[in-house]
Amino acid sequence: AQTERDLLYKIHEVANNYFQEILWDSEEGKSIGLSYFKERELRDDIIKKFQLGYSPEKKNAFTMYALEKGYSKDILERSGLSIFPENTPAGVDRFRERVIFPIHSFSGRVLGFGARILKNNVKTAKYLNSPETEIYHKSNVLYGLNQSKQAISRKNVCLLVEGYMDVISLHMSGIENVVASSGTSLTTEQIKLIKRLTENVTILFDGDNAGIKASFRSIDMLLTEGMNIRVLLFPEGDDPDSFARKHPQEYVDKFIENEATDFIDFKAEILLKEAGNDPIKKADAIRNIVKSISFVQNALKREVYLKEVSTKFGLSEQSLFNELDVQKQITH
Ligand code: CTP
Ligand code: MN
Ligand code: MN
Ligand code: MN
Ligand code: MN
Repeated sequence: AQTERDLLYKIHEVANNYFQEILWDSEEGKSIGLSYFKERELRDDIIKKFQLGYSPEKKNAFTMYALEKGYSKDILERSGLSIFPENTPAGVDRFRERVIFPIHSFSGRVLGFGARILKNNVKTAKYLNSPETEIYHKSNVLYGLNQSKQAISRKNVCLLVEGYMDVISLHMSGIENVVASSGTSLTTEQIKLIKRLTENVTILFDGDNAGIKASFRSIDMLLTEGMNIRVLLFPEGDDPDSFARKHPQEYVDKFIENEATDFIDFKAEILLKEAGNDPIKKADAIRNIVKSISFVQNALKREVYLKEVSTKFGLSEQSLFNELDVQKQITH
């Protein structure tokens, strides 16, 4: 028998085809959606590879289409694609007048959608995403994993970015081993998905305060799961998407290869800049780095990292080992 989950998968497939048809074949889709992607310099083959689409302005265009195809209001509501307010029995589409980014499972089934407004605007959230449903659990999904899994295995490293467009732009530049956490804090489940393919992660977050904060959290999560990490922060104001569009492919490749540092250098650079000459703040910075080392699972690796800190800051290994023990008691 067809289960509720089967039906949810099916309706997402129907919606995914619908949004793509609207993008490519309708006047509104072409003049608004496709022009938006062209403004962002996406090639046709990339738009198709990521199955990007467009949701029309009309209040219930998709809902009507799906009802006509025989899907019930109940399943439409539970898919997160439609809402049926009491005073609007004809229903309302969740996604209207937005470009659509389908979110796929590891094996390529559509689980949900991200949808972007066309003009940045302070009042409306830039991205609207599917709500949690029986098939979509935000914290268990990495955007781009289905399109990137082979390259991640082949290159034995996974690039981790923040956003949809970062994944897509890097693919367009021929860098195909990349997934996005989609703006949320990285979870253990997401790291386990990467770990099926590789133990090596390079964090490529946006060059802003939010990006720095997110990378600090992600470093500790990744170390806890036994991953090897390198980190690269893009120049202030850039993210992988804007950077990849500004520079030729080879330059982007080299930049990632050469500028990514280990997590100690990364944290040291940021924290010491903040600390200046204040010895107390400097000690806080070192403690913060040692805390991250306390999450490293392998004892030998922990020792190597501590030695690096010892050399870098001219501190005795003994006092760093003592601090490591303190941190382990606090955090474990
Ligand atoms: N995000 C979200 N909801 C928001 C803002 C962000 O879900 N209101 C998620 C999206 O997955 C987005 C990611 O967080 O791709 C990173 O956010 P941000 O850097 O602000 O957006 P960009 O991906 O750079 O978006 P764009 O380039 O399209 O402006
Ligand atoms: Mn479930
Ligand atoms: Mn950002
Ligand atoms: Mn960004
Ligand atoms: Mn961006």
